[in-house]
Amino acid sequence: MKRRISIAIDGPAAAGKSTVAKRIAERLSYVYIDTGAMYRALTYRALACGVDIHDEQALLSLLRDTSIELKPSPHGQIVLVNGDDVTDIIRGEAVTNAVSLVAKHPLVREEMVARQRALAEGGGVVMDGRDIGTHVLPNAEVKIFLKASVEERARRRHEENLARGFPSDLEKLKEEIARRDRLDSERETAPLRKAPDAVEIDTTSLSVEEVVERIMEIVNERIG
Ligand code: CDP
Ligand code: CDP
Repeated sequence: MKRRISIAIDGPAAAGKSTVAKRIAERLSYVYIDTGAMYRALTYRALACGVDIHDEQALLSLLRDTSIELKPSPHGQIVLVNGDDVTDIIRGEAVTNAVSLVAKHPLVREEMVARQRALAEGGGVVMDGRDIGTHVLPNAEVKIFLKASVEERARRRHEENLARGFPSDLEKLKEEIARRDRLDSERETAPLRKAPDAVEIDTTSLSVEEVVERIMEIVNERIG
């Protein structure tokens, strides 16, 4: 039987992490873990409960009181917060604009990382985020760092919005993505970084299928 390894996929917003991670997980019958959804879920809860997102202790207490479940579904993944389905609302503008401010608090990250490591215990996981290869799973057998130009990443989000019938402003998306990249890269605790042993793939002019194939080649080399 083939070894069930851990695969870490990091990179900035809209580089294609979750799309590609889901496909790889499906191909290998692995579990997909979207760590961004966990930070988004806490941010949603803080906004809904009126908790100050600059108050680290208040956020930590709220997190200890919050169960976050990631459940596979035929349409991707469902996110449940204390049993409520928040899958769509956590992708909205309010949460997107606040999430990097919530995710910068060291104590919040510590608790999230403990939960993420528990989910990955035993291997057979594809986990995506910002600090997976550098911090959450430093011993992951495969580490990938996806990147793409800001213009291309904003264009992808724009296309997604239009396909869903949501209003969308390309220039605003570019600004939001650049701001989040900056906050995520410049924070002190576990910033967005390529791990020294990660394979970097620039997806700007690649299709989803091409990226998946490149990663599968690397995975197959590892699992034999
Ligand atoms: O899907 P998108 O790339 O827009 O974002 P996401 O993966 O859902 O992550 C949302 C935010 O959560 C990021 O901008 C980071 O601030 C934070 N995050 C993090 O700090 N560490 C992770 N491992 C994953 C996400
Ligand atoms: O998880 P992350 O924020 O990195 O990106 P995502 O939520 O997977 O969104 C990426 C979007 O770009 C999706 O609509 C993909 O279909 C599209 N895309 C991609 O992921 N990879 C490519 N090489 C080309 C397009």
